[in-house]
Amino acid sequence: MPSCLPVSVLVLIFLSAGAATTVYDGDFTDEENTPHLDYRDPNWCRPLSLSNGEARCRSPRGGGHRGRLGTRCDMSCDRGYRLLGRRSIHCLANRRWSGTAHCRKIRCPVLPLIPHGRYTCTQAFVVDSRCDFTCSPGYRIEGEHSRTCQPRGSWSGAQPECSDYDPPKIKCPPSRLKVAEPGKLTAAVTWDPPAATDTADKYLNVVLMGQEPGTDFKEGLNIIRYTVYDQARNRAVCKFIVRVEVRRCPELPPPLHGHLSCSSDGNNYGATCEYHCDGGYERRGTSSRVCQLNRSWSEGPAECVPMEMKFDVKTASALLDQFYEKRRLLILSAPNISDPDYQLQNIMIQKADCGLDLRQVTVVELLGAPPRERGRIKENLLHSDVIEGLRQVFRISRSYFSMVLLDSLGLDRERFIVPVSSEELFSYIDSFLLDEEERERLELHRDFCD
Ligand SMILES: *[C@@H]1O[C@H](CO)[C@@H](O)[C@H](O)[C@H]1NC(C)=O
Ligand SMILES: *[C@@H]1O[C@H](CO)[C@@H](O)[C@H](O)[C@H]1NC(C)=O
Repeated sequence: MPSCLPVSVLVLIFLSAGAATTVYDGDFTDEENTPHLDYRDPNWCRPLSLSNGEARCRSPRGGGHRGRLGTRCDMSCDRGYRLLGRRSIHCLANRRWSGTAHCRKIRCPVLPLIPHGRYTCTQAFVVDSRCDFTCSPGYRIEGEHSRTCQPRGSWSGAQPECSDYDPPKIKCPPSRLKVAEPGKLTAAVTWDPPAATDTADKYLNVVLMGQEPGTDFKEGLNIIRYTVYDQARNRAVCKFIVRVEVRRCPELPPPLHGHLSCSSDGNNYGATCEYHCDGGYERRGTSSRVCQLNRSWSEGPAECVPMEMKFDVKTASALLDQFYEKRRLLILSAPNISDPDYQLQNIMIQKADCGLDLRQVTVVELLGAPPRERGRIKENLLHSDVIEGLRQVFRISRSYFSMVLLDSLGLDRERFIVPVSSEELFSYIDSFLLDEEERERLELHRDFCD
């Protein structure tokens, strides 16, 4: 062993020097009086001990002599300890060991905390201690569940994370039915926004998909959805239905010889319908009816009955006043009842009776000459002064067949001196005398006379 060699050399030199001294001084006793300097002393160096470790020594002379001069010891520490100092030392001639060593406990670095979680360790941060990670409620471990302090002082594995996997909870209000407001086809519906909860998060993002509460909802089913997201974008959804019912009354029939004008949608709850009668007819009964919540109309139906006319008046103006702004007049004049033009016209007019009535036209007949002159409206005979008055105002001759068409203001609008078909007459009236509203109503009742 090469490392033993210098010690052996040193011993040899010491021995020869001693021998020389002995030779010149003749004194041998000095050496014998210092027995502790015997290099063969098994305790030349003080016994070695290494706490938490082991010193493995080899003496040059073998055996269990751990402190002999030249003994060499290899130092090693127990598991969990690190050697500080010399790994190998030997016993020197000066009775000292060539170096020192001791074992220090190995510690892993302090393990950082993880957000939303914690850990517990079997033996704090020393070697072989195992730290187990757990997460707060609502979170789940991602990564390793535990880390162990390794013999070299580092932790095994990587730091885990606690991630939120628990979706939030949300509860929608119950579905609801609302009757549309009176006179409307919508209803304002309101509710408290649903509360959302989550095991992990306090602040949640609740998103409404659908109409805002408190706004007007249309008739039928309206689906309202709420979605809630937590911070980890876990999601929960709830929905409910807002049903808006429009209450409706049965469709109200228009009166014969009249029509209705209704508000709102015509027959929804709160709609009001007003009765209007055609010219020459007057209303008997209520002026309007309201559709009620229980789907029935208020009041009873009204009807349009022919206006009470006075035919026995003495002047033409008294007669005309009764028609003013109500009906049109068709004055038909002929020399006598057997006039062929009159005969022909009379047949055509009788066939057109319904169509004339639909157009608010009353036929006045002036026939013959005094003293046998006749004036009549259907079966009602007119006073001779009325006949004379009409002939003068509208310049109607007794000597030939003619017809004069007056509008509802009593103005002379058209004259005919030959008989005209009802189609021709109606076409003229429809084009020039009817206003827009009358024309629309006429269109609705086009088949009324068939
Ligand atoms: C509907 O309600 C009105 C009052 O609100 C009442 O007068 C009427 O009798 C009710 N009609 C029916 C059919 O219940
Ligand atoms: C009717 O008048 C015509 C002339 O327009 C005349 O020829 C006829 O005799 C009259 N008939 C009667 C019955 O008066």
